Amino acid sequence: MPVTVRPTRAEELQDVQKLIVGSINDLTERHGFGVMASVRPASFQLFSLRDDPRGLWVAEDDGEIVGAAFSWACDELWFLAELFIAPHMQGSGIGRELLGRALSHAEKTGAQRKALITFAFNTVSQGLYIRHGMFPRLPIYMMSGDRDEFLVTNVEAPLAYRPIGPEDLAALATLDRSALGISREKHHRYLLADPAVKGFLFYEGGDIAGYAYVASTGHVGPVAVEHQDSMGRVFDAALTIAAQESSTLISAFLPGSCEAALEIAARHRMRITYPMVLLSDREFGDWQRYLPRNPGFM
Ligand SMILES: CC(C)(COP(=O)(O)OP(=O)(O)OC[C@H]1O[C@@H](n2cnc3c(N)ncnc32)[C@H](O)[C@@H]1OP(=O)(O)O)[C@@H](O)C(=O)NCCC(=O)NCCS
Repeated sequence: MPVTVRPTRAEELQDVQKLIVGSINDLTERHGFGVMASVRPASFQLFSLRDDPRGLWVAEDDGEIVGAAFSWACDELWFLAELFIAPHMQGSGIGRELLGRALSHAEKTGAQRKALITFAFNTVSQGLYIRHGMFPRLPIYMMSGDRDEFLVTNVEAPLAYRPIGPEDLAALATLDRSALGISREKHHRYLLADPAVKGFLFYEGGDIAGYAYVASTGHVGPVAVEHQDSMGRVFDAALTIAAQESSTLISAFLPGSCEAALEIAARHRMRITYPMVLLSDREFGDWQRYLPRNPGFM
């Protein structure tokens, strides 16, 4: 029976995550990075499915899910959050087929920009995306470090901050529009509803300097700042907050062009765990003012 492609159902999202984790670990092990991923709740996928079911697809072979694609859209940006094929089925055109469905989602949303983040060491995915008009633009590093390195902040005058509340959504949307060109209000709603994540607004001289989210896993991001020169101070303050959580590892996802954040990461002896790359059909975003959360959320 040929492989069929159909919309994803909510009740299979968790099984899709297992497929994705298997596909990631197969790739990272083949490239010497070891086992990297573990199965997590598919909460962002479920949120996005409820928001716009046109963005989630699976490929099925004789009743078995062998591939999946997931894309989301905000204003004019379409973003491919996941495209994964089971290792034993790779190289037979399923990725191309699923990408076609995902790109039809982009068309339906009226996207003016298309983007994604993939593994910098995966020649197959990058080749596939380049053939579809999305080009490598920006290296992004997943970095992590030992919590003990973060208990003392690098900056002389720590920033004032407070937790983000629902009343801040408009201010967050304005900040994202100026850093990324789009509002991500729905994604802030998602993060603010997640009990494992805390969001903070940081202030300098009485004005909002930026926001940062800190997860109980010790992960920092997304982060956005009003002005480039606040990034180092906001990022460092967010790392200090993360170090007060129980996780022994602190991590973040840092664009290669964001010198301020990379400098802070290096001072705290954070290590590059794996290199990734952002591809897009055209330039967008000020990556000295925005740190993505992870490859799927951006
Ligand atoms: C990347 C992935 C989704 C592609 O799906 P797939 O079903 O294996 O790929 P397909 O057979 O549809 O097509 C792969 C294309 O990549 C191209 N390609 C392969 N190796 C290449 C290389 N070294 N340089 C350039 N292009 C290459 C092929 O030409 C092929 O296109 P073509 O057959 O039309 O010429 C899949 O291999 C996968 O899941 N990989 C591991 C996880 C991953 O990296 N996912 C992407 C995360 S965003």
